[in-house]
This record gives sequence, C-alpha cells and structure tokens, in this order.
Amino acid sequence: MATQPEMARSQIRFILGGKIVSVDAIEPTRTVLAHLRESLGRPGTKEGCAEGDCGACTVVMGELCDGQVRMKAVNSCIQFLPTLDGKALFTVEDLRREDGTLHPVQEAMVECHGSQCGFCTPGFVMSLWGMYLQHTKSGVNDSRPEESEIRSALTGNLCRCTGYRPIIEAGAKMFDLPIVDFHRDALRENLLAIKRESALSIEYKGQHFFAPNSLAELLQLRATHPKATVLAGSTDVGLWVNKQFRDPGDIIFIGEVAELKTIQANATMLTIGAAVSLSDTYEALREIYPGMNEMWERFASQPIRNAGTLGGNVANGSPIGDSMPALIVLGALVTLASVAGTRQLALEDLYITYMKNAIAPNEVLTAIEIPLPKSGRQFRTYKVSKRFDSDISAVCAAFSFLLVDGRITDARVAFGGMAATPRRAALTEAAMNGKQWNEATARAAMAALAIDYVPLSDMRASSEYRLSTAQNLLYRFYLETRMVEPLSATSVSVFA
Ligand SMILES: Cc1cc2nc3c(=O)[nH]c(=O)nc-3n(C[C@H](O)[C@H](O)[C@H](O)COP(=O)(O)OP(=O)(O)OC[C@H]3O[C@@H](n4cnc5c(N)ncnc54)[C@H](O)[C@@H]3O)c2cc1C
Ligand code: FES
Ligand code: FES
Repeated sequence: MATQPEMARSQIRFILGGKIVSVDAIEPTRTVLAHLRESLGRPGTKEGCAEGDCGACTVVMGELCDGQVRMKAVNSCIQFLPTLDGKALFTVEDLRREDGTLHPVQEAMVECHGSQCGFCTPGFVMSLWGMYLQHTKSGVNDSRPEESEIRSALTGNLCRCTGYRPIIEAGAKMFDLPIVDFHRDALRENLLAIKRESALSIEYKGQHFFAPNSLAELLQLRATHPKATVLAGSTDVGLWVNKQFRDPGDIIFIGEVAELKTIQANATMLTIGAAVSLSDTYEALREIYPGMNEMWERFASQPIRNAGTLGGNVANGSPIGDSMPALIVLGALVTLASVAGTRQLALEDLYITYMKNAIAPNEVLTAIEIPLPKSGRQFRTYKVSKRFDSDISAVCAAFSFLLVDGRITDARVAFGGMAATPRRAALTEAAMNGKQWNEATARAAMAALAIDYVPLSDMRASSEYRLSTAQNLLYRFYLETRMVEPLSATSVSVFA
C-alpha cells in the first residue's frame, strides 16, 4: 500500500496581493497562468507561446530560502499551480503603488516609449522588476546594473514590434527615479505563516500530486509510485503537458525537498543538489569555472534558469541539453537514491539511448558532483544555436586535456547535438592522447570526429552542418589553447 507522509496537507496556500490564497481540489497540471487569468481575475499576465519562450506570462515568485526572502522571475505558463504552495506570487497588477501612481519600472517604460502593442509589456515589466529588486534590497539604490545585466534580465522576453532599445533604456532609467521600497519583512512574516511542515498531497479525479519536504519522504513516495512523473522546475515537463498534451499521471514534486536544495564543496568536489536551480548552479560555478559563464548566459533565459534545475537537465538527458557535454568532460558523477540505498555513476554512463537513462523507476537523482579544477587542465565549452539568446543548441561542445611534458594526456571530448545522447568522442580522444598539441594533431582529431559521429538532420541543423561545425569548434579549441601555458588549479578559464 502506498505510504503517504503523515498528516499530509491537501490545500494549496500562497500569498497574492498581501493575502493568503487557499485552493482546494485543483487539477495538478493547472498552470499558474490559467489560474491567474481565469480564477483570480488577474488578466494583466498574458499568454503568448505557452512554452516558456516569449515571456508574456512572466511573474515574480517570492520564497523563503534559509529564512530569507528570495524573489525570482519565472514563466507562469509552465508552472503548475500546486508548486506555488508556500510561496508568494506577484503579477503586474501588484506594481501600482497605494496612491495609484505607477511603479518606477512602469514609469520608465512610459518615459522611454518601451511599449507599443503592449501585449508583451507586462512580461517585460515583471522581468525588469525582478532585476530592480536585486538592486534595491535595502530600500535604496544599492547599485546600478550594467547594460549587459539589463539585457540578460530580458533574454526571456520577446517584443516583435519595437525592437529592444527603448526597453533596455527603461531598465536603466528606472534607477534614476525615486526608489520604491519592497517590504521584505512583511512578506517574510506572511511566508512564515503559510510555511508547510508536512508534505502536500493532492488528489484530483484519481490523479495525485505529492510535494514531500524530506528526502526520506521522497524516496518512500518513489518506491510506492514508481510510475509517477518526478517534477523539478517544470521547464521540460510543463511543455509536455501544454504542447504535447501528455498526461504525466501522478506527480512527485521535488522542489521542496530540503536535502536536494543544497550546494556543498569539499577539497575536490562541488556537489549540486538535484533541486538547485540552474541560476544558483551558474552562481556556484561562476567562480570556479568563470569562462563557462557565457554558456550559462545563453542557456535558455533568466526565468527558465530561475525555475529549471541542473538535476532536471541531466535527468531529462536531451541530446541537445547544454550542461551535459561540459559536465561529462569534467568527469561529473551523479548520485541516484532509492529506499534501498544510493549509488553513483559517471554522468556519461547515465545515458543508454535516445531519452532513456539508467535511473530505475524507484530511484531519483539526488545530486551531481563536479570535480574542482585540476592543475594543468585545459577546458573549453562552446554553444552554437540559430539565435544567440534563449535558443536550444544545434551543437554544444566541450573539450579538455592535460598537457604533460608537451604531450596530451586524458583528452576528453563530448558533444550535444551530434548523437542520440550527449556522448564522448572516443576516436577523437585517441587521436589526441599521447600527441603534441599541434596542427597535425588537431587535423587528425577533426577527421576522427567524422567517424565518432553521424549526426541527424533536423529543424535546427543538417547533418553536414553539425559535423563541420563540430570540427570547426575543435579547431577553434586548438587555436585558443595551442600557445597557452597549462593553467593552474586556481586560474582555470573556460570560454563559451
Ligand atoms: C524556453 C526554453 C528554453 C530552454 N533552453 C534550454 C537551453 O538553452 N539548454 C538546455 O539544455 N535546455 C534548455 N531548456 C530545457 C530545460 O529548461 C532544461 O532541460 C532544464 O534543466 C530542465 O530542468 P527542470 O527542473 O525544469 O526539469 P523538469 O521539467 O521538472 O523535469 C525534466 C525531466 O527530468 C526528470 N527529473 C527532474 N528531476 C529529476 C530527479 N531529481 N530525479 C529523476 N528525474 C528527474 C523529470 O521527471 C522529467 O523527465 C529550455 C526549456 C525552455 C522551456
Ligand atoms: S506564454 Fe510565452 S513564455 Fe509563457
Ligand atoms: S510591445 Fe508588443 S510585442 Fe512588444
């Protein structure tokens, strides 16, 4: 019999407009966007694409992390309502001030002529507000964003009519206007009032939604519901429901499992919990592998990275996923857990065939361990996609080797977009190992790539394009590293 956590609660509670909203009996896959527009009378948040791409549905969510309020912009079109339990939701309707005047973000948009048709505008405003909050934490103008940060905050918002210049200008202009304080302490109190001590367990027309709080509860639920869909940030699963009309069946949401939300480091490894967001992963790796930053910046958009997890990217195992080639080349390990215990696998051994991995039905992925930089190792990662920002890779490459006495050892080459799974290039690595890093070696390795991979043609790229791009990226790696002294453990740099 299914063992359900004791005293599980079935009512969803969240904060909206400073008040607690309670929702009973709801379809587990009802989106936050649908609920806002259809049940809560908040039509300011729009639906454009319903797949996390356009940003018209951007809202800001507030939650408690280590007792502190954290605010992040997310796409409400792919977030399921029950995942909102215990959090606060802010929409464009919340920005107008008590005296009816506009918030500086809105005022700046007006002054800079940042809105034309207006359909995308609420989403832009909410993304800008998310950034505004980061720079006004103490109720004053703590710091001003660089233009690159404004652009980054807007990578998830599409405007098809004006071009982006006036909107970017508004992102700077809003800091010239008198600061409007955000009352974090009051929100913290409200969030504490709805903090859930027990698991959430909803049943609606035979479909279950579970949100355990602890790893023990999660593993127990997995054991008793091996067919349930594990849900993390919902940036893949949300699309399956919205676009492919797939029925996920019972759902086990891991976003509230405390043990999966930590990042830990020891002398050799960084351990990222499976429910850590891509944004927090990026922050943690920024210092350790700073050159990877461009790849992370180009991974989806900020709202997708705020919701999506590294664990979800790795577990989903898409052949065009961006994190896996770099993680495989770095020798990352994954930890899988069940009620029977835990086991560790090299990430490259997780993938069996197209979208099939080695996670057993009663297991969950709990962590990804990433080795810290080793002295003398060269490492680069590159992403090629049709659109620079917020686009899925056509080809994603990662290369690494150690140079010992002028010869290559431990060459590691992995690609996304070149095979049915993210995969290493064994013959290419063999063509590099033991050789000097010169033009002849690079050319031999490029030739070997054509034997390692027979890529597919699809809407993103033809087979020929993928192969020649992969070869050119390898050559770029050669050009960037041929004259470079091996890097020390503290100065490893990675370029995307
Ligand atoms: C607009 C948009 C742009 C995107 N751009 C990119 C991009 O540039 N690069 C890229 O690589 N990806 C991209 N993605 C895909 C997606 O954001 C990532 O794959 C993300 O990391 C998935 O994480 P998640 O937490 O949202 O996973 P979810 O959607 O919650 O889950 C994904 C899959 O993993 C499984 N799963 C999740 N966690 C676990 C676990 N702990 N144990 C076992 N199984 C688990 C789920 O059951 C499901 O099968 C994009 C998605 C969107 C919507
Ligand atoms: S409606 Fe387009 S991102 Fe949500
Ligand atoms: S103002 Fe309408 S699409 Fe941007």
